[in-house]
Amino acid sequence: MTSVLNDYSTHTHTCGELRSADIGTVVTLNGWVQHRRDHGGLIFVDLRDREGLTQCTFDPDLSGMEAFHTAETIRPEWPIAVTGKVRTRPEDTANPNLATGEVEVLVTDIEVINTAKTPPFQIEDGIETSEDTRLKYRYLDLRRPEMQSRMIIRNNFTWGMREALHKREFLEIETPYLFKSSPEGARDFIVPSRIQPGNFYALPQSPQLLKELLMVAGLERYYQVARCFRDEDLRADRQPEFTQVDIEMSFVDMNGAMCLLEEVLRDAFAEVGVELPSPLRRMPYWEAMDTYGTDKPDTRYDMHLVDVTDIFKDSKFKVFATAANTEGQVVKCINAKGAGEWPRAQIDKLEPIAATFGAKGLAWIAFRPDGSINSPIVKFFSEEEMARLREACNVELGDLVMFAAGERKASDVILGGMRVHMANALEIKREGHDFLWVINFPMFEYDDEEKRYAAEHHPFTMPFVEDLDKIEDDPLSVGSYTYDFVMDGYEAGGGGLRIHNADLQMRVLKRLGFTEERAREQFGYLMDALGYGAPTLGGFALGLDRVCMLLAGCDSIRDVMAFPKTSSGSDLMSSAPSEVSARQLKEVALRVM
Ligand code: AMO
Ligand code: AMP
Repeated sequence: MTSVLNDYSTHTHTCGELRSADIGTVVTLNGWVQHRRDHGGLIFVDLRDREGLTQCTFDPDLSGMEAFHTAETIRPEWPIAVTGKVRTRPEDTANPNLATGEVEVLVTDIEVINTAKTPPFQIEDGIETSEDTRLKYRYLDLRRPEMQSRMIIRNNFTWGMREALHKREFLEIETPYLFKSSPEGARDFIVPSRIQPGNFYALPQSPQLLKELLMVAGLERYYQVARCFRDEDLRADRQPEFTQVDIEMSFVDMNGAMCLLEEVLRDAFAEVGVELPSPLRRMPYWEAMDTYGTDKPDTRYDMHLVDVTDIFKDSKFKVFATAANTEGQVVKCINAKGAGEWPRAQIDKLEPIAATFGAKGLAWIAFRPDGSINSPIVKFFSEEEMARLREACNVELGDLVMFAAGERKASDVILGGMRVHMANALEIKREGHDFLWVINFPMFEYDDEEKRYAAEHHPFTMPFVEDLDKIEDDPLSVGSYTYDFVMDGYEAGGGGLRIHNADLQMRVLKRLGFTEERAREQFGYLMDALGYGAPTLGGFALGLDRVCMLLAGCDSIRDVMAFPKTSSGSDLMSSAPSEVSARQLKEVALRVM
């Protein structure tokens, strides 16, 4: 069966299609010149398109002199069209590494579609060109087979999501990009209005409120492959514009929503050959924090956090004893097996790394392979403390035990960060993919910098019904109906049930520091809508870029985005962002300071 890419096309076959069965057929191929080799009398051209490579041969005796002379002039990356007969390759020249490796096309006709400048890098896999150069010439970078296969994985997975949602009668509905500012934790990108000088739209950080309104509107199940815009500091897994598969449904409870989402995800991952476990593990937020020190644990390896608070209640080591006897504080540790062999200088480099996760210090004990112990703190420990510690951490020779003492969540975060760092440093194998739900996040967290409560997910999340009377007086102990989808140690998606009652929404906004007036100014339209008979509702958003990055085995979401931005937010190809003309500024009544 020939590829549908040949239908209505100027080629009869793609460059990845010809096999022995096609020998004798006259074919036309279109593609780019990968290589041209002159072998005495013969010229070989590897022709490349999205589907693969085919060897095209020019023989002055059989191809005709005109075609042969043209072949002498062509250069890499010229697009050409060739016509000729498929023939078997001579016995010893078959290429088993190439799908089309048994055959070649003996060209009798060649058309040069276009010439090409010499590209700034080779159009092939595994190049070591700087990322900036690749981004400047992204259209050439995307010609490389590995980039094309990433785009294809992304397409297949996105299609899988669409199909799975369509099958379950989710309606694809578009929502505006020019909308009202509703900060969800990051800064908004704002767009000036020309018609209403001095007024601004904001690009949505997600369609959160709009999808809730679609549920109030009675559309029951919605989805959208939606672009989201967030003006935040960029990292390998963050871009200023990124894509969510955004989902919302009405008349659901938490278990129903999660089961339905799980079915959708299972179908979509199956589309790219990845099997999602059934059922997916559900880990409560505090279990994840206590055991892995993060709300997005990679459970493919252990190195669990161990709570040793009880062991050090009477310790002579004051740092530990103080934490062990203070309400809300803990002494915890992780055991990095193998790092106990590290030289002192290498171990000393860990404390500054722990500091990046907020640590004030990083006490440690190295159990050397020869049975000796190296540590700045064991001199303070009693024999009993040492024995209990060994047992709690299952200590063997060659282990490095690292401690964090202090406030519970802060200590978890420090050790969670060190756990990932040590797994990478020790090259702990993580095979296959890891999937789980992390559920029941706290509704609020305290933002130390801003000195106020913030929503752990977002302000529209439904708090646990049994915790509603604690919103005002004990916000940190209020739970919420929430679930994050965690893949390979990344937050790949998140969602939950939503508040469907206007008064409750106002209470939550007030707890977050809004005055009634400001809450109405910013979210009045939402609360109005909730007042017109909002159903129960819940939903989810999958971070499509992150999932595709992990599926494609890449380190950065930039590798699965066709035209991403650099870490300073630039598009190197078009030089955006850039200045605009004085006239454009005047039209929107703006002046650059
Ligand atoms: P949240 O903010 O958790 O939830 O976003 C959902 C998922 O989107 C991905 N993501 C990002 N990917 C790339 N670059 C970014 N800057 C970025 N920020 C987030 C993550 C994340 O899990 N409205 C809610 C969803 C809901 O409740 O339905 C929301 O946007 O993978
Ligand atoms: P000090 O008593 O300050 O000399 O610290 C002794 C050791 O304990 C050093 O290795 C510190 O890095 C470490 N340390 C200090 N504070 C903490 C803490 N809160 N948690 C874990 N280790 C700490």
